[in-house]
Order: sequence, then structure tokens, then C-alpha cells
Amino acid sequence: MIYNNHILLTYNNIYRAVDKCGRMIPVPYNSIVCAAAGGGAREPLFRNPSSSASVYLLQFNCNRRRINTNNRRNNNNNFMDSNNNMRTESYLRHVDSRKLMPNGAGHIPHLKAVILGEALASEEDDLVLPSKEFSDQANVHSPEQYMEMYKRSIEDPDGFWSEIASQFYWKQKWGEKVCDENFDVRDGKIKIEWFKGGITNVCYNCLDRNIEAGLGDKVALYWEGNEPGLDGSLTYSQLLNQVCQVANYLKDIGVKKGDAVIVYLPMINELPITMLACARIGAVHSVVFAGFSAESLAQRITDCKPKAVITCNAVRRGTKPILLKDIVDAAINDSAKDGVSVDVCLVYDNPVALKREDTKWTQGRDIWWQDVIPKYPSTCPVEWVDAEDPLFLLYTSGSTGKPKGVLHTAGGYMVYTATTFKYAFDYKPSDIYWCTADCGWITGHSYVTYGPLLNGATVLVYEGVIYFKTEIYCSLVDAKKFKAIISRRQKLSPGLSVIKAPNYPDAGRCWDIVDKYKVSIFYTAPTLVRSLMRDGEAVRYLYALMFTVYLCAIDLRINAFGFWIRYVTRYSRKSLRVLGSVGEPINPSAWRWFYNVVGDSRCPISDTWWQTETGGFMITPLPGAWAQKPGSATFPFFGIQPVIVDEKGVEIDGECSGYLCIKKSWPGAFRTLYGDHERYETTYFKPFAGYYFSGDGCRRDKDGYHWLTGRVDDVINVSGHRIGTAEVESALVSHPQCAEAAVVGVEHEVKGQGIYAFVTLVDSVPYSEDLRKDLILTVRKQIGAFAAPDKIHWAPGLPKTRSGKIMRRILRKIASRQLDELGDTSTLADPNVVKQLIEFSDS
Ligand code: WTA
Repeated sequence: MIYNNHILLTYNNIYRAVDKCGRMIPVPYNSIVCAAAGGGAREPLFRNPSSSASVYLLQFNCNRRRINTNNRRNNNNNFMDSNNNMRTESYLRHVDSRKLMPNGAGHIPHLKAVILGEALASEEDDLVLPSKEFSDQANVHSPEQYMEMYKRSIEDPDGFWSEIASQFYWKQKWGEKVCDENFDVRDGKIKIEWFKGGITNVCYNCLDRNIEAGLGDKVALYWEGNEPGLDGSLTYSQLLNQVCQVANYLKDIGVKKGDAVIVYLPMINELPITMLACARIGAVHSVVFAGFSAESLAQRITDCKPKAVITCNAVRRGTKPILLKDIVDAAINDSAKDGVSVDVCLVYDNPVALKREDTKWTQGRDIWWQDVIPKYPSTCPVEWVDAEDPLFLLYTSGSTGKPKGVLHTAGGYMVYTATTFKYAFDYKPSDIYWCTADCGWITGHSYVTYGPLLNGATVLVYEGVIYFKTEIYCSLVDAKKFKAIISRRQKLSPGLSVIKAPNYPDAGRCWDIVDKYKVSIFYTAPTLVRSLMRDGEAVRYLYALMFTVYLCAIDLRINAFGFWIRYVTRYSRKSLRVLGSVGEPINPSAWRWFYNVVGDSRCPISDTWWQTETGGFMITPLPGAWAQKPGSATFPFFGIQPVIVDEKGVEIDGECSGYLCIKKSWPGAFRTLYGDHERYETTYFKPFAGYYFSGDGCRRDKDGYHWLTGRVDDVINVSGHRIGTAEVESALVSHPQCAEAAVVGVEHEVKGQGIYAFVTLVDSVPYSEDLRKDLILTVRKQIGAFAAPDKIHWAPGLPKTRSGKIMRRILRKIASRQLDELGDTSTLADPNVVKQLIEFSDS
């Protein structure tokens, strides 16, 4: 980049620059910070390479077009008009509050504050480099080192992976072939095998091996309860003891190698303990996220016919107790109707949420965890398994109603999760690692449990729900509307508490936890980043507080203490070193907020693209190696060969967009769909013969960076133009007043499909016709007129699962007014969001 005579403007949440002496200085929100016409301050401002992400440049700078006082006067560029006013339409995205340029820069009279966009419309040119200090200490410290390792992993995968695998304990080494695969349906049955004939045990490698290496007294799991103040920890030795007790119990009730065990537990230590206990005895765990309804749980029980179900009587989410045991009872009854009976239900007693005596009980089937587990010996011999024996089953949703039982096997998964964890997070033994995912999802399997423990890491397990949404704040400025919403909502659900904390007890909880445990690696989902972005920097105004009190509807703790407080910046976060993102494309503005505000422009972000099916990271930055581009997952992990194909399955080279496929297998790949190998082949290997088809769209830019554009089933075809919903969403959320957006396609008479956008606004911003137009204009400008949303639907909250995924199925139904076909909304973090959305349909 060149930095000639530019004017610097702060962008949305960016508020750091470097002064002449190289010191970091705060820059006021939404203000013009410097006009460096003629030099002076410009050098120091960019001395620190990472500051290029903190301060944004105008378009003319990226165009390499020089601007200075003279050429502005001469009007020989189209940045200023003939009255010496800045022309906003082509360069500036948003105008907010009136400010004048500082001395020496000239005035931009009609401008208020400026938020830039167009310089960054080409996100591809925005490189964020890791600092030299970071790269110097990183496991992979340069693009050259990455290239060398990557090249070897592709040219000699057997050598590359067996060298890594040898660092683990194998009772017996694998056979001749490290990898045996058929990836092409035209050549017969799809088969993936790694390290076949190798005898090992994943639990042994997570615990016993690390203890033998001297980590017995190192903390393996910290546990932080939903209620502040409730916490605990387990060292590697203590964890092994507890795992052995559970393993011995399972063996005692007849669970054997290859048997399935359903685990329906919240985020308490007993969840990873149970997973490890199953792995120790060769049983196949199938964790069902403890937010799924009885119906969904029953479906999974019926499919895998478990020897036992392990659950908890109840759990508190925020302030609300959820009666898990009741859900399990209903599910077991349902599955019995389908001929699958469950003989043992082990129940963890969680007195914080529900008293023992209030728990419904089936004598002979139900057993209290605390009554039996402590009685079992704390050592348990390991069941040695083949690398290709199953480790776990995890159900994931497909395009049909029936969930798919994704099956992972022991050896390859072990090697792959451990390696990806180590490199993508630049793991060091001194790190404290926190992944906010629940073990009910693949992220909780690979990157709460197996990946980190295989590395001997200290992991924080957090019980609380962090994907809460603020629902009402946005309408606080409009008292009438607010009252109307409340009365309507109360009519719909009497006794409903009208507000929930965005986080419990407040939006600062995450950062409080980061400081408490000195978390150094923080791995989360973009949805959390966006929710926190909305709340984190929000200043609560007096009138909001007054309405709050007046309506007696809001948790006063949040507002009274949130008044004038910044939820993120009041915490130190000094311990943070690496940030991570997963689950959906992270839009550049959320990326920047995460990077600049949460990470203080210091911590690289690993935007990890992967899937339940892939077992581990597939495309991810290696934080010390690459310059990052906000919103791009960057480059493939070792051994991964991503290709982009067109509709006919032809590989496209260079800069392109298309379907993301993978050529050749990798150790962490799933081996089949439980009980349905045919569906496995049809869904993943038949669409593009010779490749694994991810179901995602992807763009590769001129520098080879990968940009995930979302599920291809979420692609909208408007007048023959393919538009990724993620692209439109990204454009919408780049508008400073838009906190979150979800876009779906609706039938359109003329265009085939129209674009329907659900939009959540930043706190306190009122809905208005002007804003609606402005949002549409933003999309037109960023993508093109063809991508302009046909409808903006105001959304105080979006329907999300507890893991933070937006349920587009529901949004599609609301958009197309098929309100009687909304389907199961029980897995939503807050099912009431749906009612609210319907109320806002005609607004
Ligand atoms: C999406 C979660 C963009 C993608 C690990 C994928 C992402 C689906 C990213 C898998 C990312 C996950 N950038 N999109 N970094 N990570 N996805 O199976 O559409 O719950 O196909 O696994 O999430 O979701 P799953």
C-alpha cells in the first residue's frame, strides 16, 4: 500500500491509531482523525503494519490516485465537487454526525462524520499482517515455511501424516498402507481408511500419554458455571480418575466395544468425561445437543439404538431452568413406540437447577450419577481399537428431515484434530484455551475435547449460554412501539419475561471470563461476535434507562451498570493471543471489530472453515504465517486440496467462484453415514464425481485466498444472477446501523427469486423508511443493483439454535407467509423470536 497525502477517517468501531512517536492513541468514534496532506504524521501512523487495519483510507488512496490541497482545489479528481465538497456517492458509505475536518485538511462542509467503505469494497486488498513478534514465536512463522510443509503434505501424504501420527501412542503400528481410499464413485464404493491395522486408543492418548509425559498436575479442564462464582477445575490426573470411574460403570452395565451411548448433557465437565469414558472402552458416543427437542432426541435414539442414555435432571440457561430429564423421558417413550427401548438412563444430579425429589423418575431404568459413579475404581484398562474402528457418531441436519449420523473413526480423527488444533491456533503449552461451542456440535468434539486434550492443553468449559440476543433495546427510543410490542408479546405468551440479557448476567461476561482465567486462545462463532459487537460498544442513554424503569421490564442490573460502560473495553483482555471463528462466514465488519476491539489489533484471527463431516479444519489461516484478509478463511490446511468446480464439475483455476470440493481424502474425514452408506455417496460424492462435495460456495481471489460464500443451498438466483445470501448479508451488516442480517430467497413473479432480508438494527436505532432505503442502497453499491433486497423485514431478533445458527428454514416460511408450516421451533435459543418476527411482518 502507498500512503500519499491521505485523509484518514475512523471506521465504525475502529479507534486506535499510532501517533508520531509510535504510541497507540485512541481515536474518537466516527471521526476524521487526520489529514496528512503533505506528510508529517503519515509515516508514524503506519509504522506498525498492523495499524493498517485500524485506520481506513479513502478510495483514491487505493486507486493510487494522489490527492493534495492543490488537486482538490483544481478538482482534477472526482473526490471533491466544484464547491470543494466531498462527493459521497462513490467514495463514502455512510454519513452520521456533523464533524469538521481538522486543521490543514480543508473542510468538508456537508459531511457529518464519515464511515468509509469503498476503499474496502475491495476487501481483497486489505491485508492484515501478523506482528513480527507473533510470527517470530509461531509454530509456522512464514508463508515459505507453510508452503514447504504444505507441498510435502500433498506430494508425500503418507510420509507427512505418519511422521505426525508417530508422536501418538500406538499399541501396534498401522499396516503397510497409511491411506487407502476410493474417492471416485465411478470406481466403485467410496472408501476412506487411514492407519488401518494401527491399534490405539484416543482416550489413552488424551490422558494417560500426557500424564506419563509429566502433565498429571496440569489443569486439563477449568469449568465456569452459568452463575458467576460457580467454578471448578480438574487436572489431567483427576480427569483420568473420573473418566475411569465412568468407563468402569459403563462396562458394568454391559456397554461393550462398538455399542452406542447417547449423551444428552449440558456443558458440564461430565460431558467431556463421558465422551472420553466411551472412547476408553471402545464404545461409540453420540452426543445430542441438550437443546434438541424430545422429538429430535427420539429420532436419534431410534436410529442408533443406544445401550444407555446419559443425561442431567435440569440445567439453568440464563435465569431459566430447562428440565432435560423430562425431555429424555418423552424421547425414550417415543422411541419405545418405534420398538427401540432404553434400559439404562444415567442422570447427573444438578441441584442448582432442580431438586432431586422434584425430578421425575422411572424405577429400574433411571440411576443417579452421583449414587453410582464414585463407587467405581478410578483406574480402568484401555480397550485397544483399530484406527478404523468408530469413535463417535454425530447427527447433523441434511436437506431432508432425517438427520445424518456422521461417523468418525479413531486413528485418523485423532491425528487430524490434534494437528489442526496445534497449527491453526499456534498452540503453546502455556496457553489457556476457550472454545465457546457446546460439545453437542462437532466443534465441541474436535476443539473442546479431543484436539486440545491430545495436545495436553488447558481447556475452559463454560456452561452458560452465550448466544442470547437482545430483543428490545432497539425499540427503546420509540416508547409507543415498545409498549405495543410488550403488550402484544404478553398476550401471546402470558408471564413471558420480556427481556433477556444478551449475556448472563451481562454482555461483559465473556471478557470477564477471559480475564478471570487469562484465556489466551478464544474460539467462537461470528454470530456471537456480532451480538457482542452490538452490545459491546453501545452506550446506554438516559432515556433508554428511563423507559426501562418506567416499563419495569428490564433487568436493571444490565442497564444501571451498563450506563456509559463499554462492555468489552472495561476488561483488560491482555492475555488474549489468538482469536478464532467458525460456523459461518465472518463478515468483514465483524472481523474487524473482533480484531480491533476484542483483540486490540494484536491477535490474529483464525477463521476456520470446516464441517461436521470433515472432522477438523480444512481451510484456515495459520496465524503466524499469512497476512489475513478480513472475511477470508485464507488457505488450505496441510494435506487438503480444495478445488472450485463449475456446475458441470469441471475444476476452475485461478480467480473464480463455484462449488467447493475436496480432492483426495484426509485423515479426519468421516467414513460413512451411520447405517446409510448410500446416502453418504449420494450426498457427498455423486454431485461431482471424483470429489467430496462440501455443499458450500467459494470464491478464490487473485491472490489465492478462499472466501466462503455460504451454503449453495442458500444461493438465490435472481434474474439468472447467482447471489450468495452471505454476500448480501455481509453488505447489509457493513451498514453501521445494521447489527445483523439474514437473507433468504422468495418466489418472485418476474425475477424468479427475490431477495428478502431480515435486518436487526444496532441498539437504539429506530426503524425508518430512510434507513430501509439506505440499507438497500448499501447492497446496490456493494454488490450491484441486481442484488438489492426486495424486502427489508425489521427483526428485533433472529431465530437461532443455541449454537448460534440462524434457522433459515423458518425465515423462508415467514418470508413466504407460510406461517402454518413453520415446523419445529423447539431447538431455537428463543422460540419467541418467531412470534415477534411475524408481528413485524407488515411493518
Ligand atoms: C459453515 C461447523 C464460512 C459452512 C464446524 C459449512 C463456515 C457449515 C465456516 C458446516 C467458516 C463453517 N466460514 N462458513 N469459517 N465454518 N462454516 O457441520 O457452510 O455445523 O458447510 O460444522 O458451516 O457446519 P457444521
